Parts: sequence; C-alpha cells; structure tokens
Amino acid sequence: MSKNQKTIPEAFQIKETLQQEAYLVGGELKKWTGKITEVYSTISSTDEYAPTLLGSTPDMGEPEALEALNAAVKAYGKGQGAWPTMHVKDRIACMEVFVEKMKTKRQEVVKLLMWEIGKSLPDSEKEFDRTVDYINDTIEDYKNLDRDAAKFQKHAGVYAHIKRGPLGVVLCLGPYNYPLNETFALLIPAIIMGNTTIFKPAKHGVLLITPLLEAFRDSFPKGVVNIIFGRGRAVAAPIMQTGKVDVLALIGNSKSANALQEQHPKSNRLRLVLGLEAKNPAIILPDADLDLTLNEVIAGTLSFNGQRCTALKVVYVHDDIKDKFNTKFAETVDALKFGNPWDEGVNLTPLPEPQKPDYIQELIDDALAKGAKILNKKGGKRFDNYIWPAVLYPVTKEMRVYQEEQFGPIIPLVPFSNIEEPLDDMAESNYGQQVSLFGKDVYALAPLIDALVNLVCRVNLNSSCQRGPDVYPFTGRKDSAQATLSVHDALRSFSIRTFVAFKDNELNNEVIEQLLDTKLSNFISTDYIL
Ligand code: G3H
Repeated sequence: MSKNQKTIPEAFQIKETLQQEAYLVGGELKKWTGKITEVYSTISSTDEYAPTLLGSTPDMGEPEALEALNAAVKAYGKGQGAWPTMHVKDRIACMEVFVEKMKTKRQEVVKLLMWEIGKSLPDSEKEFDRTVDYINDTIEDYKNLDRDAAKFQKHAGVYAHIKRGPLGVVLCLGPYNYPLNETFALLIPAIIMGNTTIFKPAKHGVLLITPLLEAFRDSFPKGVVNIIFGRGRAVAAPIMQTGKVDVLALIGNSKSANALQEQHPKSNRLRLVLGLEAKNPAIILPDADLDLTLNEVIAGTLSFNGQRCTALKVVYVHDDIKDKFNTKFAETVDALKFGNPWDEGVNLTPLPEPQKPDYIQELIDDALAKGAKILNKKGGKRFDNYIWPAVLYPVTKEMRVYQEEQFGPIIPLVPFSNIEEPLDDMAESNYGQQVSLFGKDVYALAPLIDALVNLVCRVNLNSSCQRGPDVYPFTGRKDSAQATLSVHDALRSFSIRTFVAFKDNELNNEVIEQLLDTKLSNFISTDYIL
C-alpha cells in the first residue's frame, strides 16, 4: 500500500482492478475477449500524483452492436414477444425483482461513482437512493395509469378500451455526470412500458454498471435489456443505420443526438426522448435577499463542480446589488473545500475528464483577453486534476464563457441595468431549460414570471435550478430537450395510446364479456392492480 492510500478510508481503497469482461445480450452474460479500454480515475492513490487504474471495459464494435440490436428486435417479436404482450402486473413484478437486487449493490456502485466521476460520497449515495426511489415511484405510477385505463368508454355507439402500449426497440444512452440516475430515468420507464432495449453506458461511469449486470439478466425475460460497451460512434451509429430503432433516448448533447438521429433511414419513424445541453441563467434583482441568493447561486453553479445540465451557467447581477453580491460571492467560492469525494464536508472534487482543466483555462484566458477580471483570489488555480472556480466579471456576449456550455467550475457574472437585457439574451439563446429568479417585489416579479415561463420550462423563484424532485416535469425548449421526463411523463414518452374499439351490438358485447371472464387477453382487462 502506498503512503497516500492510508488517507483513503479502507472501504474506499482500490485493492484490485475490475476487469469488466461481460456484456448482456439475449439474456446471456457473454464473455468479451476482444479489445478493451482501460478505465482510469483522475483521483490519485499515491503521494506523487498519478491517475488510478480502476480496471477495463470492452471496446466493442459493429458486430456486437448488431447482435444486441437483433436480440432486442427478437424479444419485441413484431409486437408478439412475451414482454410487450405481458400483463402489466407481471411486468411490474419483474421490475420489483430488479429493484430488490439492485438495492444489494449500493456500496459497490457508490464506491465506483466516487472513483469514476469524482462525485462526493453524499452525492453518490443520493444518486443511488434517488434512482431506487425513481424505480419505486415509476412502479406506483404505472399501477395508477393502468388502473385509470381499466374501463370502457362509449361515444356515438362505439366502445373503446384505451391503454398505453410500447413503441418497440429503444436505444438508451446516458450522460457521464449522472451515469446511474439519468440513464435509469430513461431505461426503467422504457422497459416497464413493454419496450425492449439496448443500453450503452456513457464515457465515464461505466464500471459501475458491472455490479448490476446479473440483476438485469435475472429479472427480465431474455433480450428485454441488452447492455453493450464501447464508443458511441462504433456501436450506436451502426444500430441506428439499420432503421430498426423506434426510440432514441439520450441525455447528453445535441451534437451527438443530431448525428445519431441522422443515421436513421426513416426519421419520421423515430421517436426522440432527449435531455440536452442548457445555459440556465440566474437573474438577481436589486431587492434580492443577499444571503439566500448567495447560497442558492453557489449550489446552482458549483454542485458537482457545475457538471450538471441544470447548473446555473451564467449569472446576471443588477447594477444596484452587484458590488455587494460580487464581493461576497467571490469570498464564498474561495471558502469552499476541495478534496477527494470521501473527504468530510467536501464541496469541490476532482474533474473526471483529464482535459477539462485545460478547457476551463481556455475560457478564462479568452475572457481575460476580452476585458473580464477574476474576482476571487484562488480563481483559476491549477491542481493535478482540478482548476479552482474562477468568478469572472464583467462577462460580455463576445466571450466564449458566455457562449459555450462550460459544464465545469467557472462562473460568468454579467451586469445589467434594464431587465430587458437578460430577457433578450434568453430569447436569443439556443437553450431554454430553466432560470433562477431572485427578488422580492411582486410588482417586478409578476410580469417577469409571466414572460420567463414562455422562454424556459421551469422558473425557480429564489431557488437554484434543479431537475428534482423527479415527479416534476423535466424538459426544455429549443436545443435543450425533446419530450418530457418526470416519473409520470416518462411513462407517456416511452409509450403510445392504443386501443380496442367495437360497435355496440350483441355479438361484440358477448365476445368482450367472454374475453373479460376468461382473462385470455392481457390487454383487454379491467382488473385493478393494487
Ligand atoms: O445533468 C442534469 C441533471 O438532470 C441534473 O439533475 O438538477 O437534480 O442535479 P439535478
């Protein structure tokens, strides 16, 4: 053991590497013997800085990608597969088995979350627990949905039994910042609604899927969940080119979403469920409560080092409050604690992308060259795997940090005197996810709220932007999203209304009664799931 290992709590030390050699296709965990990708953490295990080797994952290509696709297509079975035709209660039972198995893997997944993406221990635990809650809430919501559909309607002499049915084969791609939660927030509703799936983990946070592979294999019929590894270009693109994917579910950036979408030969057939980039602004009005605003803007800009799609990525500060706010904000940023994810009370943690500090440095240099200053003493200070958040002021539209989604620790402050300035900027922006509005005067707030709800999809009043609680709609305008994800909305996004209709006559009424009595159909059923 190196000297430095002693400072890493025993439970979190990397004692052996994890060679992830299995992939899940057609209900089988197959052994991969081809090319591999080594997985390194930017966190050091030794006194002298060196990235830590965590293990390896398969680096797959087109043949394995198509093997997974074919398994999903086969399991869907042209709509006749066991999974898409299964009674809702039986699909729910499979999901309940899965969530119980998943719960037993908490410790392993949390440890890997910390090492692979540098997320703090409390946030890694939260990510795991939030995902388990998400699955349980999804099960409850699906029961409600099914209960509400357990009836017949009649209009103009025609009866209808309307439910939500699956769409087909779903390709699921998640982001590295929430490799468990956001990926599962796509995968779980897709599965439970009767679709069959192919899932490829993001570029970081891949090993943490390993402890869950057996649970997927053992909880669902074969081919319902297929898990492959490799680069998006190598595995996702050939899958899309076949035209056999019915839904592309992706949380990431619009560039990759567009590139994949374009591979599909029949774009009209492809449904998109996308959570994309954003540049959520904070708008600080002259009467904002200073302490509350400071806390919320710190959390909004720097939770998980700003690597959240919902992070505050540009802060508009009114001229009347800017002196007080800027000084206190800069001091507060410098008082934050940087350390490894398991360190007590840590706020800032190593960046998982080795090139990220250089990119943030470029944004700083560009802003300085165009007239901004760094307000905080530690701003821009370099570490082996980190760069201290620079508070930049005054930021203008010509600067890259204003234009690009920084997705990291750097905070652009933009002064304004007229509220039309941030409103115009937001209207011009390519993004439209959320905004945080800080102020008290209802005469100022009311017209602003009325306008902002039409520019974004969530106005956070005196609160930082965030996705949660997961029962609320998570979506965006323009380049920020397509479709809506909440526990409830995701079930709708991954399904379509489909129904059985019949004219009201003796023959039909008798047939339906028999169908109900014999319980031969899984679709025609008025049974309540409790
Ligand atoms: O990356 C974007 C996530 O949806 C953010 O979720 O706001 O709950 O951290 P959060």
